[in-house]
Amino acid sequence: MTVFEEYPSMIKKQNLTTIIVFGASGDLAKRKTFPALYELFTKKLLPKHTRIIGYARSPLNREDFLKRIKQYIKSPGDDIAAFEELCEYRSGEYGKPDDFQQMHARVRELEGEMDTASGGKNCGVMRIYYLALPPTTFVEVAGNIKENLYSNDVTNHLVIEKPFGSDRDSSKVLGGQISKYFREEEIFRTDHYLGKDMVKNLMALRFANTFYDAVWNKEYISNVQITFKEKIGTQGRGGYFDEFGIIRDVIQNHLMQVLSIIAMETPKSLDAEDIRDCKAAVLKCIPPATLDETLLGQYTASEDGSEPGYLDDETVRKGSNTPTFAMTTLHIDNDRWRGVPFVVKAGKALEDARVSVRIQFKDMKYPLFPNMARNELVIRISPAEAIYMKTVVKEPGLTNNLALSELDLTYQDRYTHIPIPDAYASLILDVLGTDHSNFVRADELDESWRIFTPLLHQIDNENITPLPYRFGSRGPEGESNFLEVFGGYVK
Ligand code: NDP
Ligand code: BG6
Repeated sequence: MTVFEEYPSMIKKQNLTTIIVFGASGDLAKRKTFPALYELFTKKLLPKHTRIIGYARSPLNREDFLKRIKQYIKSPGDDIAAFEELCEYRSGEYGKPDDFQQMHARVRELEGEMDTASGGKNCGVMRIYYLALPPTTFVEVAGNIKENLYSNDVTNHLVIEKPFGSDRDSSKVLGGQISKYFREEEIFRTDHYLGKDMVKNLMALRFANTFYDAVWNKEYISNVQITFKEKIGTQGRGGYFDEFGIIRDVIQNHLMQVLSIIAMETPKSLDAEDIRDCKAAVLKCIPPATLDETLLGQYTASEDGSEPGYLDDETVRKGSNTPTFAMTTLHIDNDRWRGVPFVVKAGKALEDARVSVRIQFKDMKYPLFPNMARNELVIRISPAEAIYMKTVVKEPGLTNNLALSELDLTYQDRYTHIPIPDAYASLILDVLGTDHSNFVRADELDESWRIFTPLLHQIDNENITPLPYRFGSRGPEGESNFLEVFGGYVK
């Protein structure tokens, strides 16, 4: 993990950098990758000598390409023209060696220009191959890069996006094929939740505060809830979503990454491998999720009919049983957590949009006051990042009544002058700095699939019917008492 003050010097070192965005005509590239690159540029966090090549099959001219990549840049400043100068677009196939060889010639040319501009004073050359492409193309493109674009005399980084397979076996096959071309230390598996500021903050919260450290175990913690709620449905992504479902789309990756940081042991150091060793180790202690402790749902049209149901999406298979809501209890079989339920929940088309971690503490061992509510630590990842501790206080005034109040650190009140960076900007900065702490290592990925594959296979093979819930509701029937029944939660 890189300590932030080190970034500028570290980035300066790698000062001849070419970033090639494959799939530059696509959704991820325009919505996330290019706006993030601009954010880094405008904050002067790109290496001094950087060039960016967008690559895809679509025949775009420069003007169309620039228009496309600027679409999602929220407030372009005066420096946007300078950013455009760094960018160019090339059209080509993903499987044609010729196209990649021609790109290699261009990359060499750009590196030559950057070398001249640096006066020969550079400490290294880096090429970042960013695959903003459907996963079906990953292996072909990785192979073509290795054969025709990769150089042993430069630093090569391959960035890939989830989904990494659809179960344990397919993920292993995909990993095995990519590892024929790239070494683990060259691969950056993106889970954009690891770039979110509040997720990055979990490490500080846990390991830089004596009082949290002291109570972070089964003696004091009753249960942990990790929740992802979206108000929107699949919104035109039904075709993709229907193949995956909410467990593969959000729980197996984003929520399990959050869980592993919440639950891991203290790493030996802030080194990426020490952190990832601890994350993988805690995942190893989690037995597979079971259907008995899982609630599945699928949204139907909203009560007033203004929002369509999941099955109304024309890109979704007729009669599909793909869950758009899932809630499951996981157990961690180690000394720190034995007996503490971890409830992970994710749903689309719910009443609220919120991602949070809620840690409920146990009752006081020797209660002096009657009917005391429990302490709860809430970490809101999005929207409006916040950490608050539900704390029992004496109600102010001429009363001895107790009340549950909050010790509240809401970022937008406390850090008014610091804009929260985009997760992708933060992750690309890590790729530039060769810092793997916020990327998923192969063994973490495998463990996470191990936990969910039996459940996913059972859901698929037995065609389990999810319970219906209305668009805009809290979820299917059973949602409201699941936490008490399976999560040890006390209201
Ligand atoms: P797109 O479907 O927009 O595809 C990106 C580009 O890839 C397209 O513009 C197209 O470019 C090319 N492409 C599409 N289909 C094929 C195909 N079958 N064979 C070859 N090329 C194809 O994907 P996204 O941009 O949405 O996603 C890219 C990656 O990022 C995926 O792995 C996705 O799961 C992941 N991701 C996306 C998120 C998002 O918000 N969009 C969020 C998180 C992860 P052309 O035809 O011009 O070559
Ligand atoms: C993506 C999922 O990985 O994460 C989407 O594919 C989901 O279905 C998205 O909407 C949520 O990301 P965020 O950053 O909006 O919480």
